[in-house]
Amino acid sequence: MSLLGIAGSLRKQSNSLAVLNAMFAEMPEDVSTNRFDLHEIPLYDADLNTPASVSALKNAIERSSGLVVVSSEYNWGIPGVLKNAIDWASRPGYASVLKGKPVLVVTQTAGALGGARAHQQIRETFASTLSRVTPCLPVLISAVANKVKDGKFVDDATRAICRDAISELLLEVRLLANRL
Ligand SMILES: Cc1cc2nc3c(=O)[nH]c(=O)nc-3n(C[C@H](O)[C@H](O)[C@H](O)COP(=O)(O)O)c2cc1C
Repeated sequence: MSLLGIAGSLRKQSNSLAVLNAMFAEMPEDVSTNRFDLHEIPLYDADLNTPASVSALKNAIERSSGLVVVSSEYNWGIPGVLKNAIDWASRPGYASVLKGKPVLVVTQTAGALGGARAHQQIRETFASTLSRVTPCLPVLISAVANKVKDGKFVDDATRAICRDAISELLLEVRLLANRL
């Protein structure tokens, strides 16, 4: 089983990336992990002949058993960097590599709400791509600086919530594999 992690932020010190690293650091031994960096993904333009970076993103999604998408909230919504990448990956519509793909959505913010509004928008976006959004309690990490440090969890409650969510994602992957 292999999970692909996508952080919806480009900066080196991204809290989204820190959360992703903390989650992947505690993965069961039989699960491999990869991260896809969105730096090279251009703005969506249907006139472009599928850029190499977009092909790489689509291939990485296709090869993975499931996605872990960790994002912040920007201005009460989904950050453009992440939405743009999903838009690229979503083509051809309703028949893309995202169709049927198990996806765990995690949001984090410095503030108190944990990105609840962006979280809902990201879930809806993955509904539009016919992805299988993991049925679990929404993982909303508030005051993220107190929960993750140097790519490791420093808060047991957050660690437990993320571990449970990953278990649900892996269950979804297994259920899907058994169905096929
Ligand atoms: C342009 C911008 C808009 C933001 N809007 C919100 C917001 O609407 N709600 C919120 O809780 N935090 C907001 N924040 C704070 C970020 O969610 C927070 O700093 C987050 O941890 C950044 O994640 P990152 O390090 O992965 O980019 C905003 C930050 C930026 C840069």
